[in-house]
Amino acid sequence: MVLRRRERTKRDDLLQKREAALLGGGQRRIDAQHKRGKFTARERIDLLLDEGTFLELDSFVEHRATDFGLDSQKYPGDAVVTGYGKIGGRTAFVYAQDFTVLGGSLSEAAAQKITKVQELSLKNGAPIIGLIDSGGARIQEGVDSLAGYSSIFHNNVWASGVIPQISIIMGPSAGGATYSPALTDFVFMVKGIGQMYITGPDVVRAVTGEIVTHEELGGATPHATRSGVAHFVAETEQHSIDQVRRLLEFLPSNNMESPPAQPNGDPKDRADVELATIVPENPNQPYNMLDVLHRVVDNADFMQVHEEFARNMIVGFARFDGKTAGIVAQQPDYLAGVLDIDSSVKAARFVRFCDAFNIPLVTFIDTAGFMPGTAQEHAGIIRHGAKLIFAYAEATVPKISVLTRKAFGGAYIVMSSKNLTGDVNFAWPTGVVAVMGADGAVNIIHRGEIGNSDDPDATRARLISEYESQLMNPYIAASRGMLDDIIDPIETRPKIIRALDMMANKREVGPTKKHGSIPL
Ligand code: HXC
Repeated sequence: MVLRRRERTKRDDLLQKREAALLGGGQRRIDAQHKRGKFTARERIDLLLDEGTFLELDSFVEHRATDFGLDSQKYPGDAVVTGYGKIGGRTAFVYAQDFTVLGGSLSEAAAQKITKVQELSLKNGAPIIGLIDSGGARIQEGVDSLAGYSSIFHNNVWASGVIPQISIIMGPSAGGATYSPALTDFVFMVKGIGQMYITGPDVVRAVTGEIVTHEELGGATPHATRSGVAHFVAETEQHSIDQVRRLLEFLPSNNMESPPAQPNGDPKDRADVELATIVPENPNQPYNMLDVLHRVVDNADFMQVHEEFARNMIVGFARFDGKTAGIVAQQPDYLAGVLDIDSSVKAARFVRFCDAFNIPLVTFIDTAGFMPGTAQEHAGIIRHGAKLIFAYAEATVPKISVLTRKAFGGAYIVMSSKNLTGDVNFAWPTGVVAVMGADGAVNIIHRGEIGNSDDPDATRARLISEYESQLMNPYIAASRGMLDDIIDPIETRPKIIRALDMMANKREVGPTKKHGSIPL
């Protein structure tokens, strides 16, 4: 009887401790978090994971620091909630920084909690999602905190290409707190709430004199449109969580698995007559490549990555016959789909992610080539364009391409071309493979003839017409086997699905090496 009472007391004690841990930095700070329109770390985890699946780890961990008054500011679990659960029925690991505890700052103990779930996710081949809301390194803990970041970064790098790593920025992400997300595969930012910067506005003002708000410096909009740090922007926290759950549906849990198949009823042999007229007669008139993509993928379901960054290039996930594919496509509707620094880097990164996770690549090409001019040359278009060549050449997943209109010069080579080991290369009859457009070509190769002519304009027009009829078509490339087929545009979807099916068991092993040296 006495024993039973003692057991009950111990159990009560445990429940009490658990209850205390749920309060993080206390009700006052939880209320402040809510007042700012933010959820708490635990509320976020509950929204992210399938209902009732969260199992918390390390809720009894406390920081060990005593200096600067920290001995009187101990909170069970410290400034991060960690554990695992299910997303769409599959295991996922999660950590959520708790801003109510010392601003979610990273202590040595918090770092150890995070590295524990990172190591579990790597060992067990499941994605990890970090919910970031942190003032960065815990200032009072000095080097111990910095060392904690080192371990987290190391784990990010070690897990890269093995498990999907995702970050959602749901509050400040300052200093060291920016670099772990930057090392992950996908960064989601919540508008008006998520802010990422190496140094905040105060330091910026002190060092450079520049006056800037938190949002202008590191909000979702500048990172999604200009820096490219953010892959996805969400209107609300719930929206970002919905986006993450949707993204994970496209991805395998690790690099040893194939992406999950999701039968969806869209017929494999569905033709689309509208595709026959989508490319305008006038080669300089734009059209929206998204119209093409939506017509060929399963149920027009296409999840764009980096939607607002380098809009001349489209990348994202879709399905063909229920199976995930990575789409890379030029957007003639924005800067004529030109290949510039940002679009090259955007596509290169996406291609490498897909290759690491066994996701076939389907590339749609329509570009006049690389962007000329000093701005791009001096900023390193050669170095950055080379990244895209590297990424495509290195990728061993099935690579299919569809040339809808222009593939001029370097752009032909870069975009999954046959000699860069593209597997199946299709062109529409409107496709053109050439070193350059007719205008530019004629001005170079017939400069003398045009200059000496009595009527230069008429001569130029005749030569352009000759060039166009002889070289501006897909048949020369097809006659050399560099295009495998010229297809009726309306049959694009069935042709892609047949090609993907043919390559379902593709295996390709490159030469033994430690790793390549991509031109970074
Ligand atoms: C310890 C911190 C903290 C930190 C915030 N707090 N940041 N405690 N270390 N880094 C505490 C505050 O003292 C406060 O405690 C609580 O968290 C909430 O902070 P507030 O400032 O009141 O909140 P807010 O006004 O919303 O501002 C949030 C903030 C700001 C923008 C994040 O706190 C801030 O600028 N923090 C410092 C950011 C920073 O420079 N971090 C170091 C980066 S260097 P109370 O008790 O009042 O609730 C770094 C090195 C690694 O990370 C670099 C690797 C490359």
